[in-house]
Formats: sequence, C-alpha cells, structure tokens
Amino acid sequence: MEPAASIAAIILAAGKGTRMKSALPKVLHPVCGLPMVAHVARAVRAAGAESPVVVVHPDALASIRAALGDRGFAYAEQADQLGTGHAALMARPHLAAHRGPLFVLPGDTPLLTGDALRSMLRVHEACGAQATVATFRARGPHMYGRVVRDAAGKPVAIVEHKDATDEQRRIDEVNSAVYVFDAETLWRLLPAVGASNASGEYYLTDVIAAISREGGSVAAECFDDDALFEGCNDRWELAMAARKMQTRIQRLHALAGVTIVDPASTWIGAEVEIDADVLVHPFTILDGDTRLGEGTQVGPHATIKDSTIGRGCTVVHSHLTGATMQDGSRCGPFAQLRPKAVIGRNARIGNFVEVKNAVFGEEAKANHLAYVGDASVGDHANIGAGTITCNYDGFGKYRTEIGAGAFIGSNSTLVAPLQIGEGAIVAGGSTITQDVPAGALALGRARQEVKEEWAIQWRKKRLAARP
Ligand code: UD1
Ligand code: CA
Repeated sequence: MEPAASIAAIILAAGKGTRMKSALPKVLHPVCGLPMVAHVARAVRAAGAESPVVVVHPDALASIRAALGDRGFAYAEQADQLGTGHAALMARPHLAAHRGPLFVLPGDTPLLTGDALRSMLRVHEACGAQATVATFRARGPHMYGRVVRDAAGKPVAIVEHKDATDEQRRIDEVNSAVYVFDAETLWRLLPAVGASNASGEYYLTDVIAAISREGGSVAAECFDDDALFEGCNDRWELAMAARKMQTRIQRLHALAGVTIVDPASTWIGAEVEIDADVLVHPFTILDGDTRLGEGTQVGPHATIKDSTIGRGCTVVHSHLTGATMQDGSRCGPFAQLRPKAVIGRNARIGNFVEVKNAVFGEEAKANHLAYVGDASVGDHANIGAGTITCNYDGFGKYRTEIGAGAFIGSNSTLVAPLQIGEGAIVAGGSTITQDVPAGALALGRARQEVKEEWAIQWRKKRLAARP
C-alpha cells in the first residue's frame, strides 16, 4: 500500500470584516474562548492537515500572528482584496512542494468540524476528484454561489449569485466555500482564472468550471447540517455561533460523564478538560486552560479560569484565575483565588478569603475573612479570621512564611518579610513585625488592663450628678 499523501490547507482570512465594527481582525474574535480561525485550524488538523497557511491582510498580520503563533501556522499576505481566487494564489509559495489534497476554506466558520473535512476527503479520494466541494441546501433568499450540475447530475460549475441567471438562482444547492483540491490541478488552473464577472473579482469558484472543461472530475458532498458552514460576519452571528458551539462542547462533556445541572446558565470554554463524575452546578463559567479532576463539584456561581482543580474538590460561589487546588480541597463560598494560589490536599479556603501567589499545605485552613499573598502556609496551619499578610510597601513585594501546624490568631497583621516557625502561635489581634521561632507564642498588642468595679463607680457618679 502507498503511504497516505500528506494533506495541506489554506485558510482565507484577508477579508475586511467591516461588519464586525472592530479594531480586532474578524477571525480573531473568540468563540467559546478561542479565536474563530483557531477553531478552523483545529478542524483542519483533526482532518490530518499539518500547518495551515493563513492568508491575511498585511494590517492584520502582526495581531493574527501574535494570537496564533508561528508553530503550526504559515502566513501569506494579500494586500488587495481581489477575490477568493487571488487570495488562494497568495499561499502558493508556501505550498510549492506539496502534492495531493489541499483544503481551501474560510477562516470565519468556527463550527466546521474535523469530521466534516474527513468525510470530504473520503469522497474526494473515492471519486478520484480534482476538486470536492462541500455544499448544502439554502432556504430563503441568499447570496451563495449556486452549484450547477450537468444532465448526469455531476457538478460542473459554481455560479456566483450576482452572475447567475434567473434559472440558476432557483438552484437550492449552494457552495459552502469549503473545498478539497488536488494541489497540482489548482495551481495549474487558478492563474488562468479571470475577473470579468459582476464583481470584477478573481473567483476561486471558477476553478470548478475549468476542471470540468478539461474533462476532470468534480465531486460535491451535500451536508444536511448547514450550521457547519455558518460564517460570522457581525457580532450577532458571532454570538449565535458561540451558542451553538457551547451546546456542542457541553454535550461532549455530558456524554463523557460530566453532570451539567443547567446547560443554559453554564459556559465552558473550548479548551477546558473535565474528568468523569464532575458535577457542574448552575451559573458556572469554566474558561481558558482549566482542568477539573474526577468527582469535583463546582458552582453554583463559580468562575474558574486557567486553573487546575484536582479530584474530589469543591468550589462554591467563588472566583479562580490561574489557581491550583489539590485533591479534596475546598473553596468558598465567596473566595477569590488569584494567580499562583496553590491550595493543598484537603485544605480549606472559606468565605471572603483572597489568596494570591501563596501555597497552602495539606489540610491548612483559612476559613474566613483573610488576605494571604506572597506566602507559604505549612501543612495543618490555621489562619484565623481577619488575618492579613502585609506583603506590599508601595514599592516591593515581600514573603510571609508560616510553618506547619502554626496557629495565627484572628485579626493578625503579618508584616512581611516574615517567618513564623512550625507550631508557633500568634495571639489574636497581633501586629507581627519580627520572625517568630518554632513553638513560640508571639503577642504583638497592647496588654489588657482590667479595673475592678470601675464601671459601677463611674455610673454611680454620673447618676448622682444628674439635676
Ligand atoms: C464565497 C463563494 C460563494 C460561497 C460563499 C459561502 C467565491 C467567489 N464565492 O462567496 O460561492 O457560496 O463564499 O460563504 O469564492 N477572502 C480573502 N481575500 C479576498 C476575498 C475573500 O481572503 O480577496 C476571504 C474572506 O476573508 C472569507 C473568504 O475568503 O474568509 C470568503 O470570502 P467572501 O467575500 O466571504 O466570499 P463570498 O462572496 O461570501
Ligand atoms: Ca462570506
């Protein structure tokens, strides 16, 4: 058996996207946490194409490159929007050595899937076609290119709406703008395509008729699910595509063993990974590079971004960004875990506690009303209510290190840099400015004075003085 031919791809994304009314290039608008064009690239990769060539306008190159990176993408520039045929031609220098199947597709169809592209490849190969077009049946008035078939039912041309005769406009099978081409055939015929049409543009679609004219073979796969090809040209279309994508993402998690109590009030980003038997309560947002381990419960009202949550954890009514929670730890209600918060196994972060760049050891606790920043808190240590690490003097940040089993009394002010040794006790209400050795008690407050009977005498005097 011959080794399978490598597969290449061109993503067309040089269009102006004016209807987005945005400084951000159209294809960088995110859908469920990933830019549209990144969704398209995912689909293309799932279908076996390695490094898609993205055709961009020079003004958008820097931002698109910054968003997608250089690994796994190549970029071609199209300065003037002379049409889809011209845009595809701009990618040719990157693909000079490529033989075999070449996807060409738009960068603004985030709902396209690897399955749909793989299916097209199978049709392309089974038919020995030089081009395979994904089509669908359009309902209602529209501007899509019509798929013209010959008497035998073979597709022979795509005619743009503006150029179509009344009879052609009655054809309901339309071009999705997603194609597989045989690369050699495309590069041989595309340069000869002209621009004498209603739009004065170089149409990629004209290659279809050119293939038919020279006796080549064109295949069309007509998809029932036209949502696959929905383009996002304005922010409402973007929002509607995101909603469909969201349903798709949640369904996949649900079928993989995740309970989503209320899909309508839940939002899960495209990159989030969730293990089986996770329970997602209503009003929960999971976003970015987030992972949830088996048996964890999140929500109601949890917002978790770029965070790693272990197994059997609980996050209630809390906000987490860039945080790590180890197995069995709990957070909330009303806690905030900021970047580099690490909550150890079975540790507890309770209500109105903020943690930033701080590591809590196993079974450590901060149950209420505290700020712990730039700190380490040893195993089994207890941070009392109202404790504040004073980590910032207006210029630099300083660390507080609290040893295992230490007990920090309520309303303590810990002025960093500071070390509190293992098993030490800080008396409630202390302001601690010096290191506390292991096993010691530190008191940092005015000593209490008690005056016996003073209150009784005082009241008596006041009553006697009344007129
Ligand atoms: C295209 C197809 C049409 C199809 C429709 C589906 C052509 C001639 N027509 O029409 O048959 O039904 O898509 O949506 O191809 N682009 C560039 N440079 C250009 C022009 C376009 O990069 O000079 C990019 C756009 O950014 C977009 C894609 O190519 O991603 C399609 O272009 P668009 O102008 O949307 O094509 P349509 O006129 O909609
Ligand atoms: Ca379009």
